[in-house]
Amino acid sequence: MILKQDVLDVVSEYDKRSITVGVLGSHSALDVCDGARDEGLPNLVVCQKGRDGLYTNYFKGRTMNGLEKGLVDETIVLNKFDEILTENVQEQLVKKNTLFIPNRSFVVYSGIRRVENEFRLPLVGTRDMLKIEDRETEKENYYWVSQQAGIPIPKHYVSKDDIDTLVMVKLHHKYMTLERGFFTAASPEEFDAKVERLLDREIITTEALNDARIEQYIIGPVFNFNFFYSPIDDEIELLGIDFRFESNLDGLVRIPAEQQLELPAKYRDPLMTIVGHANASLRESLLERVYLMAERFVAFSKRHYSAPIIGPFCLQTIVDQNMDFYVYDIATRIGGGTNVHTNVGAPYGNSLLRTRMSSGRRLALEIKRAIALDQVDKIVT
Ligand SMILES: Nc1ncnc2c1ncn2[C@@H]1O[C@H](COP(=O)(O)OP(=O)(O)OP(=O)(O)O)[C@@H](O)[C@H]1O
Ligand SMILES: [Mg+2]
Repeated sequence: MILKQDVLDVVSEYDKRSITVGVLGSHSALDVCDGARDEGLPNLVVCQKGRDGLYTNYFKGRTMNGLEKGLVDETIVLNKFDEILTENVQEQLVKKNTLFIPNRSFVVYSGIRRVENEFRLPLVGTRDMLKIEDRETEKENYYWVSQQAGIPIPKHYVSKDDIDTLVMVKLHHKYMTLERGFFTAASPEEFDAKVERLLDREIITTEALNDARIEQYIIGPVFNFNFFYSPIDDEIELLGIDFRFESNLDGLVRIPAEQQLELPAKYRDPLMTIVGHANASLRESLLERVYLMAERFVAFSKRHYSAPIIGPFCLQTIVDQNMDFYVYDIATRIGGGTNVHTNVGAPYGNSLLRTRMSSGRRLALEIKRAIALDQVDKIVT
């Protein structure tokens, strides 16, 4: 593991008057760049060839006939995302005094072990907490963290034979490796029948089934809470709430029941491939409960990791009919849904900070404050 001290050694050589905000070109990079722009910090996006158009073209910063457009200052275009780990690219980033914002794409495309052991750039985030998102491979994953922290999660079923209520079975899709072949079942018999069908349709594999997570299906709306923990102030801030659009599920539920039953069989298995997000608010009387979960999460991070969770994190929740929250996933970095608040700001963040405040902007603001207060050591690992 690259230690905080290793990173502080890198930062000590930085020219603090010319810091660059770096990010991998995917996921929430637009929000990060937009926020850096708002705070007057130059940004740099590391792209993969063929997936670079947003950053090298459409949102590239430029002046057109006197009109200022765009928000990306600089790009590095690589053949493959994981070339960001090469000595050459890391050196370029260090030369530009880059503080790097980890997003989920960065971790997935680089591989968690390489992020931990080979990427020596200062991360504005908590390096040894990124792994908790890998629920299949890490023992100390977010389920474990939630239990340790005292955060409620959906009941876990160790064996399909114990299924006594509606459950969700979480496993990888056979072909779409980053996507899911999730299904629901209400009994061991239904589980077996669905497994047979999904194997047959080549949506899942028996190997993936062995690593599947079976958990209680919570019936209720889904809210992603985009929080920010400021290590400088030692305070938790709720910035905004989003929820997801998922394909093909969202289309299926908009078809009346009779017509759903008439659909050809191959369209009837719902997939939950994420395609977008929308802005949400939460009933005011419930908000404090969500802060309580965030407080517990931050308190646990202080106890167990090399640094408390630094900056943005996201609690992904479902609320049942008793108004009880269940956390089904935790993002230990900027959430994927924060683009919904890009530039307009996140409702609660705007209110709290008395100006437009997206997750990206809040990150840049914390960087600026850390530099001004000479506390950069508090915001990097
Ligand atoms: N226990 C549950 N009960 C009901 N719905 C659930 C439950 N867990 C997850 N979901 C639904 O499934 C979706 C995906 O779940 P989850 O985040 O666990 O998958 P994932 O593989 O981590 O996907 P991603 O990487 O996109 O977050 C959620 O957005 C939510 O709508
Ligand atoms: Mg998830």
